[in-house]
Amino acid sequence: MTDAGRHPNIKLMTLSEVIDVKGYVGNFEAKILKRARYVSEKDCTACGECAKVCPVVRPDEFDSGLSSRKAVYSPFPQAVPSAYVININECLGHNPVVCAKCSEVCEKKCINFHMSDEEIVEKVGSIVVATGLEPYDPTELDEYGYTRYENVLSSTEFERLISAGGPTRGDLVRPTDRKVPKSVGFVQCVGSRSARKGGAYCSNICCMNTIKSTLVLKEHHPDMEIKVFYIDIRAFGKGFEDLYRKSRSLGVQYIRGLPGTVSENGERSLRIAVENSASGKIAFHNLDMLVLAVGVKPSSTTKKLQEMLGLQLTSDGFFLEAHPKLQPVDAATRGIFYAGCAEGPKDIKDSVTQGSAAAARVIRLLHRGEIVSEPITAEAAPEKCKICGICAEVCPYGAISVDVKRKVVASVNPAACSGCGTCAAECPFDAITMNHFTDDQILAQVGTALAVEPQSKILAFACNWCSYAGADYAGVSRLQYPVNVRLVRTMCSGRVDESFIWDGFARGAPIILVSGCHIGDCHYIDANRWTVKRVEKIRKKMARLGIRPERLQLEWISAAEGIRFAHVMEQLERMRREVSPEEIAHTVNALMPKGEKTDPPAA
Ligand code: FES
Repeated sequence: MTDAGRHPNIKLMTLSEVIDVKGYVGNFEAKILKRARYVSEKDCTACGECAKVCPVVRPDEFDSGLSSRKAVYSPFPQAVPSAYVININECLGHNPVVCAKCSEVCEKKCINFHMSDEEIVEKVGSIVVATGLEPYDPTELDEYGYTRYENVLSSTEFERLISAGGPTRGDLVRPTDRKVPKSVGFVQCVGSRSARKGGAYCSNICCMNTIKSTLVLKEHHPDMEIKVFYIDIRAFGKGFEDLYRKSRSLGVQYIRGLPGTVSENGERSLRIAVENSASGKIAFHNLDMLVLAVGVKPSSTTKKLQEMLGLQLTSDGFFLEAHPKLQPVDAATRGIFYAGCAEGPKDIKDSVTQGSAAAARVIRLLHRGEIVSEPITAEAAPEKCKICGICAEVCPYGAISVDVKRKVVASVNPAACSGCGTCAAECPFDAITMNHFTDDQILAQVGTALAVEPQSKILAFACNWCSYAGADYAGVSRLQYPVNVRLVRTMCSGRVDESFIWDGFARGAPIILVSGCHIGDCHYIDANRWTVKRVEKIRKKMARLGIRPERLQLEWISAAEGIRFAHVMEQLERMRREVSPEEIAHTVNALMPKGEKTDPPAA
């Protein structure tokens, strides 16, 4: 942190919050709200004289409320910059000035109550999202007695208690009597791996944090009785299994099962009922202190940032990477990267690895001074644009600008466009073309696929990243599926234009499939949500024209689902056989231009 603060190419902005981001890769513009410190960052030497005279006492957040701080304080010992800050909502000396004691004692005259928040605009080429995590608050798990018993602590509070820089200088004492506990229990997976409360995911760090704590305790108190209640111990990192074994060899008891109830006896000690899932027996344990190994959850700023930057989230609420194996630190939006727990729970080593990877990705992107954009991008035809604004609304990247009020036609920023083609599919006036996946090119493929015996074919549109790769996987896995499937590749299922479907049916296709990545996995943020809407709309029109809507199918098939791809194709083949020649003839007729119809379609 200190190194970062001193680096000539790093501008560290503390007490700051990004409130808006505009632009695209290479040309982002971030609006930042820098909050007033009320202490001169340049002149403050962190002597602490101000804090000594400040009459306001508040719980110290850094020590999880186990110690106190003043209204003028240093957030934590190694804080960068090394300058105090005034919490103006707690301070008595601002408006009206009734205190100002800190100001009187500060020799360097660093206190300035007239400082105000400022808005700063920074231009940057790329963005790394490193918003970290928050510990789970165990108050909702009443069975563990966290809100009822003082000697039940969360692991974050316990960490501060055993820290040399903590409120007790590292001496472990019970909160109730300030004596060293003779027995300590740890409860694992508090707020993790639970579908009921907290997160359903493994928080990754709690097992090793507990093992580390047991080793520290055994080092200082070899006779202390220590019990760990767990579901299973996940010690999968380098050297971690050795630490687990060491902990056991020092006498730490690992009991498979989580407490059902926690109650307090007369001496403020705790009685814990646990069903040992290994033996199937319920046992009671008397302990002086209980530590809840709390899981982690995404930072509270995640949702706001996701909306601001147009990013994706996993069902757990962490940021979703562009590809879990090939682009693990990239966001789907080009020029944005992830580091640390913003993307998922991880320990320090993994966070450092990911931070380094994100930095390398940024350098790789920006070192040339210019950015090469992909050739598959959308292009607007201003003469056809009727300024409806639909293209801008559906673009997941905000790459299209159109001003409906001022009547400014649509234009596409190729650097921001990632080429999903949703805008081209949604434009009602064909005013947007997808380079290399134009309407004409795709319709020519449809025409060729259905040129001979169309009634015997299954026309399938498959997105490049998932379904087409799924088909590929089925092929290389030597899976058998009907040979009459004709695949048309688009970059995203969002590119499948309504006209492609009508053209396919008009040429006599009995069954048409639109397939893409599962919802939440689309490689273009959420473009496939528009696919869902479009297919529903087309099905309604089909029903109105007397065409069975089931003849248009929508399936999500991932790149790893070769078996599913083959299975879906077999299903479609069974459906195809049920489509009669009369039904196909009716459809073809219903979709003919008015003058050419032989039989009006049933509405
Ligand atoms: Fe597969 Fe969008 S990329 S559906």
